[in-house]
Amino acid sequence: MPLAIGIHDLSFATSEFVLPHTALAAHNGTEIGKYHVGIGQESMSVPAADEDIVTLAATAAAPVIARHGSDRIRTVVLATESSIDQAKSAGVYVHSLLGLPSATRVVELKQACYGATAGLQFAIGLVQRDPSQQVLVIASDVSKYDLDSPGEATQGAAAVAMLVGADPGLVRIEDPSGLFTVDVMDFWRPNYRTTALVDGRESIGAYLQAVEGAWKDYSERGGHSLEQFAAFCYHQPFTKMAHKAHRHLLNYCSHDVHNDDVTRAVGRTTAYNRVIGNSYTASVYLGLAALLDQADDLTGERIGFLSYGSGSVAEFFGGTIVAGYQDRLRTEANIEAVSRRRPIDYVGYRELHEWAFPLDGGDHATPQQTTGPFRLSGISGHKRLYQAC
Ligand code: CAA
Repeated sequence: MPLAIGIHDLSFATSEFVLPHTALAAHNGTEIGKYHVGIGQESMSVPAADEDIVTLAATAAAPVIARHGSDRIRTVVLATESSIDQAKSAGVYVHSLLGLPSATRVVELKQACYGATAGLQFAIGLVQRDPSQQVLVIASDVSKYDLDSPGEATQGAAAVAMLVGADPGLVRIEDPSGLFTVDVMDFWRPNYRTTALVDGRESIGAYLQAVEGAWKDYSERGGHSLEQFAAFCYHQPFTKMAHKAHRHLLNYCSHDVHNDDVTRAVGRTTAYNRVIGNSYTASVYLGLAALLDQADDLTGERIGFLSYGSGSVAEFFGGTIVAGYQDRLRTEANIEAVSRRRPIDYVGYRELHEWAFPLDGGDHATPQQTTGPFRLSGISGHKRLYQAC
């Protein structure tokens, strides 16, 4: 019997503020149906000036450490594509805020929205080598496009922390994985920009091509057939994309495409992403959180995961929900993370979108806005300053 390895615990955090799409639509004159139905988005998380990927990551991971301790955690992998430093890993700040032991390996991973899945797979390899160890994998991202661009409606922010170990409490991750990489310029962010660049239509086509490629490799490696999956967690830059992706996969596999089947496969994975917006590398695992929180008993059911990162890399893999998982869920905390956000109006959102530290190396404090457990209190001598509140 191979060693069971997978996701032992999962916790997520999102930002202080939320902008309803009705406010964006009122500003730019868009018919609200385009947002609510066309892209399947209700609202998007907006970070406060004193929040960033570090504070989100620490907030997501703190409950995991509180529940399990840190004795077995020897590695922290922080995946992000909205990095705050070109050299130092955001994970080191998180390690400090959480008070993790110094005998820990900490590293940051990047490949657009795919990074957390790479982290999960690398973590499984580490646990395989030493099953007594656990790996803390954190996906943390702030999705940011230019104001008044088509991408603006698909912003958001969240972090998901996953404890990966042997004999997991939630999901056993299975072999094989289906992999796909191709060099494409569908979405990217040069080092000198704070907002991403994207060719919207090309990015949707590239995502669908990657779904096909990853599934083809998965099948050729002896993976399960579509019927053997109870649900599918797709990367969700906007929730309609999960529907598009599953329709595409059904077509590719020469299945009839019925709306009911697509909704059954992905509908239960979209609740958090619909109100949080794009959280880049965290989004596929927010899909898992929504599924686990909302579905009836999934014990023993196989879930498909399709992780896509523009540029592009994709991976398809399966996982089986383990017995007793419902006792380990964080449904109440998850709902609270979403409902505690304070609505912000369009003017306030725009101010935050344009807020940035001066680049002069001086001392600059951030306005006290977040009510979360960690904050970015300022910058001094080009060093970011964090505090536990
Ligand atoms: N009622 C209902 N539906 C409506 C509507 C209305 N009143 N008005 C328009 N729609 C529908 C359109 O028919 C369209 O549906 P289909 O895609 O099914 O045809 C949908 O709403 C969107 O309309 P448009 O295509 O006209 O919207 P747009 O030009 O403003 O762009 C977008 C949409 C491309 C997603 C844009 O928001 C964008 O560029 N987003 C960022 C890129 C992105 O998320 N790409 C996804 C794949 S890449 C990826 O996944 C990585 C990542 O995280 C970025």
